[in-house]
Amino acid sequence: MIETLTPPLLGEELYKKVKNDFIGLNKKYIIADGNKTRRVYLDSTASTLMMGPAFRTAERFLENYSNTHSEMHFGAKICTEAYNWVHKKVLHFVKADPNEFTCFFTGSGVTSGINRMARVFSQVRPSSNIVLISIMEHHSNDLPHRKHGGQVIHIPLDTYESNLGCVNIELLEKYLKQYKDKISYVSITGISNVTGILNPVNQIASLAHDYGTNIIVDAAQMAAHAPIKMSGFKDLTKEIDSLIFSGHKTYAPGSPGTVIARKSILSNTEPEEVGGGMVDRVYENSYVVKSTFPDREEAGTPNILGSIILGASLEVLDRIGMDYILKKDLMMTNELLIKMTSISSVVIYGDTDTVNCPRAASISFNIIGMDHGLVAAILNDYYNIAVRNECFCAHPYVEQMLQQTHSDQIKKIKHIDNPWHIEPWMGMVRVSLGLYNTREDLDYFSTALNDIVQKKNWFKKQYTIDTYGNYIHKEFKFTGEEYFNMPMILDEELNR
Ligand SMILES: Cc1ncc(COP(=O)(O)O)c(C=O)c1O
Repeated sequence: MIETLTPPLLGEELYKKVKNDFIGLNKKYIIADGNKTRRVYLDSTASTLMMGPAFRTAERFLENYSNTHSEMHFGAKICTEAYNWVHKKVLHFVKADPNEFTCFFTGSGVTSGINRMARVFSQVRPSSNIVLISIMEHHSNDLPHRKHGGQVIHIPLDTYESNLGCVNIELLEKYLKQYKDKISYVSITGISNVTGILNPVNQIASLAHDYGTNIIVDAAQMAAHAPIKMSGFKDLTKEIDSLIFSGHKTYAPGSPGTVIARKSILSNTEPEEVGGGMVDRVYENSYVVKSTFPDREEAGTPNILGSIILGASLEVLDRIGMDYILKKDLMMTNELLIKMTSISSVVIYGDTDTVNCPRAASISFNIIGMDHGLVAAILNDYYNIAVRNECFCAHPYVEQMLQQTHSDQIKKIKHIDNPWHIEPWMGMVRVSLGLYNTREDLDYFSTALNDIVQKKNWFKKQYTIDTYGNYIHKEFKFTGEEYFNMPMILDEELNR
């Protein structure tokens, strides 16, 4: 008898099912008023929570666990097949033609992948040493190019009603024209981790190619929030030469940094990392590097388990549909922006006209008259809302935007070589969204903000500030060990 399988859920139906299936979503902590409440996780731009189906897939995978790259026993066959499947999944997820592109895993996030590709791309046009990036880049898409790529030039942003928006395409073209043959490559973020502003990466790729150079896209934020299309255009100039993202931001904590790159570019140089698995033959005085991808790029035993978690979560995202996810993200971000702009003394950074300048998932703000650290501490201690504060590893961008609210203070410290956190006003609070956030979360967050603004002076009295600019509650004490004490948990597990 032929068994009839239930057709897999797709699109909105799947989204509704998965939305509540994340580990830690309903975790409760005791807050400053003594109540134990559910946390509201609004820090997905830093790291997303783990998708339940990905975790359970990994558990089932572990029953077969073995090292990969062998066909000799059952476990090895299963793991090798699954590991290879994940590579294909990644290429499909970013719409990269497998004939032209390969995918490989490196490090634990985007940083390692960008360092690696900066070294590779700097060898493609060795006589050119300028790298064009934007002012909105995360340090991980800036410093690797300074160290390995050459001289970095930051392209300014669009200004609309004096707010900063996405990369200014006309200025980008001006730079491309001006430095033409001196440009080694262009490297741009798909979505800002500070403001959630989207950049038109395929349009930027087209311009870069028109001027004879290549492009890297930092998709650390883009991968979880917007569809990616690296190839498959009629107009080949729109193709992206390399793109890098992190599994820990795509609902797959513990997974590796992911690089997709043109095989022809990688083939030009010897792989950056050498060791077992990437060689065909090793002699006493020489060795022969494999010509097959991705093997030649993955020296040593890879992060097999992490890649399985990643593959599972990308498959779920693909089945929901990244177009659908982007639509939802834009809508939720817009709703949150409207709620926040209606609160007096809340200042939002970056262009807030989302028709002119779409934003997905991240919003950075300050409450006038309160340091970012104080606001973040109150949100945590009194409302159990997890947000992030400070400069989000994007000093030049954050500093430029702080001109809007703190220009006098910035002038005073401009030439002082202090670490960033010495100045408690220097920074912002960032609220960011993931698949699991609901309208109720947005309402709860904006009510909390309203409360904080209303009771500003009372809240200030509850805290002291240390020499690092951290706000410490005078009475409420939290110890992580009450919730996660590793030796105790191990004892419990061992006594089961
Ligand atoms: C836009 C952007 N690029 C790069 C990074 C660095 O990523 P990772 O921490 O995975 O190395 C981040 C991390 O927040 C980011 O948001």
